[in-house]
Amino acid sequence: MAIQSVRGMKDVLPPEAPRWQFIEATAREVLESFGFAQIRTPVLERTELFARSIGEDTDIVEKEMYTFADRSGEAVTMRPEATAGIVRAFLEHSLYATPGPHKLYFLGPMFRHERPQKGRLRQFHQIDVEVLDDAGPQVDAELHVLVDHLLTRLGLSNVKLVINSLGCPQCRPAFKQALVEYFQGQKARLCPDCLRRLAHNPLRVLDCKVEGCKAAAKGSPLISQFWCPDCRTHFDEVRRLTEMAGVSFETNPRLVRGLDYYTRTTFEVKTGELGAQDAVAGGGRYDNLVEALGGPARPCTGFALGLERLALLVPERPEWRQGPELFIVSLGEAPRRLAFYLCQELRKRRHMRVEMSNEDKSLKAQLRRANKDGARWVLFLGGEELSSSQAQLKQMSQGRQFEVAMGRVGDFFKNLEGPEMDNKVLAGIIDDFVDAICAKIKTG
Ligand code: HAM
Repeated sequence: MAIQSVRGMKDVLPPEAPRWQFIEATAREVLESFGFAQIRTPVLERTELFARSIGEDTDIVEKEMYTFADRSGEAVTMRPEATAGIVRAFLEHSLYATPGPHKLYFLGPMFRHERPQKGRLRQFHQIDVEVLDDAGPQVDAELHVLVDHLLTRLGLSNVKLVINSLGCPQCRPAFKQALVEYFQGQKARLCPDCLRRLAHNPLRVLDCKVEGCKAAAKGSPLISQFWCPDCRTHFDEVRRLTEMAGVSFETNPRLVRGLDYYTRTTFEVKTGELGAQDAVAGGGRYDNLVEALGGPARPCTGFALGLERLALLVPERPEWRQGPELFIVSLGEAPRRLAFYLCQELRKRRHMRVEMSNEDKSLKAQLRRANKDGARWVLFLGGEELSSSQAQLKQMSQGRQFEVAMGRVGDFFKNLEGPEMDNKVLAGIIDDFVDAICAKIKTG
């Protein structure tokens, strides 16, 4: 049997590529206008980095990482997310030594060994956005504006921003304690993982996907009852600024994230159109991660969008199906040589999308291909055209046909005996023909 791709890892075939390019180009444009610069980190990181940042008790670290010993016996992991690697680079290159904020973005593949389904893959791609060394509520609100604006630019409408604050080391311990006490009374409903996690990381129970745990979590205490005055003031300002910027959102005090590093503001963007995998984006503050990884105190925030999920939601755009602007039909050896040369010159000089048939096919067959490719114009080059120095140019949508003067080019190819081509002479006489074709296409 032919070799197949690895489960959960998908090819993006040419008809899908314009959709990906559109998403990536729009993201780059929007991110750069918001002052973000690109960072690229390696796919492989030391396993310890993820265990210490994402958290030992998370599904990602416990069950989903592609971890192996490399040839020197070192435990390495294919990144399941971008934040940890970016913080590692921030420390390794002492970026923290220059004043923040450091506004970084990242685009690339991530790896999680999850059960594949619609919108959930084992190799997937994220557009990741991080602001390092900025504690203010403005930057949290700015990320809300940014994600809302980017999704609008991508043409997504049926999405909802849901936000929460997960508190800080001042107020979270009391919340955790209240959760432990509450779940002690719910033990019979909890899954074995959650029973184990309950003692040291009860927040994870709130994120469990098992039905019994979800039901048990329904009546659990809310973090909003425990916010310290600073967390409350911070979150109020985030909400005020987000609202002022005209971005609609919903506050959900039960929103938790699948990674342990979060503090204060957290958020997800949800859609009703993807079934179970309803999060298009997710993120929040991680004020203590830089310190936890051995660096100085540097408050940070960020989020990531899932590219595969965006690709399922972005509406089709007519420009993605554009065929060549010009298809050159040529009949006979000399006209086909001219067609070859003209193709390259129009691409190089005018950045035109030009195609031709390389094989000696009939007029009918070449026209069939021009039609199939969706060519807007067809240029005919045959022996007669070379003799008369007049090529025929046809506008496919209107059926209109025009004559285009070839100047001395016709003579050059008509008189050609052998395969030697004097490029200098040719380059000097092709200008007028290129100009005439382009002028007609532009005004036609
Ligand atoms: P996350 O919520 O794990 O957060 O992932 C962010 C987004 O990546 C999700 O909302 C989803 O769109 C996409 N995603 C996640 N897993 C898959 C999958 N298996 N298949 C397809 N798409 C997926 C993070 O990764 C954090 N690092 C975000 C962040 C950045 N927080 C702060 N800075």
